Amino acid sequence: MQGLDPTKLPRHVAIIMDGNGRWARARNLPRTAGHKVGVERVREVVRAAQDFGIEYVTLYAFSSENWNRPKEEVSDLMGLLKLFIKRDLDELHSNNVRVRVIGCRSTVQSDIRALLDQAEERTRENTGPNLVIAFNYGSRDEIVRAARALAVDVAEGRLKPEDISEDALDGVLDTAGIPDPDLVIRTSGEQRLSNFLLWQAAYAEFVFATCLWPDFDRSQFRDALEEYARRDRRFGAVPAPDLAVGS
Ligand code: IPE
Ligand code: IPE
Ligand code: MG
Repeated sequence: MQGLDPTKLPRHVAIIMDGNGRWARARNLPRTAGHKVGVERVREVVRAAQDFGIEYVTLYAFSSENWNRPKEEVSDLMGLLKLFIKRDLDELHSNNVRVRVIGCRSTVQSDIRALLDQAEERTRENTGPNLVIAFNYGSRDEIVRAARALAVDVAEGRLKPEDISEDALDGVLDTAGIPDPDLVIRTSGEQRLSNFLLWQAAYAEFVFATCLWPDFDRSQFRDALEEYARRDRRFGAVPAPDLAVGS
């Protein structure tokens, strides 16, 4: 659609939305002002993903380490998440979007937990694009919880240690049933994962956009998809032309 080659589109795009604070600071505004504009970009990018025909979009909204921020900023971020779900769930649902939430649910405040549960419940039967919200998410925490779940299965005799496989672990991660990300985009010029999808991104392509998240719009998104389309994914094998020539 719109000039993008549908055969070279990622099925799953995961985004580390970074740079809200710097965007605000550059304008002499409080950090929260950056987070507010950031939510506008979330709306724009989710709509664009639907238009481009991307099946799964995962957004890193709040990490398990973001609790280390000042209390007021944490509380503003919680407020924005609540507002986003309250305001946008209707539109997402009417667009047939299925919402999933990954991250540790048991340690978030109960009103937010209820909203996250409700967003998943209400859209469970939807068959359109998938929006995955990574909230109170940290990959190491996710893997530890998954390991614990498998250990309980072994201790209770439902699983043998030798049956622990990549698929078994995959199946108890928060992302169970969601395909691995093909493309991870991070804005703001930082080039790190910050505890995001460590297991799942094993063979993802990375695009580091230099703009700050509040400046990441539809056209920046398209640029990242075009960059992805030029990449050659090998998954440890050899490129197809070399196969034809032989070793
Ligand atoms: C990303 O922007 C938003 C969240 C982490 C929730 P930041 O708040 O990290 O902005 P910078 O990196 O300080 O500019
Ligand atoms: C990663 O950004 C988390 C989210 C985007 C939610 P951070 O701004 O928290 O990461 P670091 O501290 O720069 O690694
Ligand atoms: Mg940051």
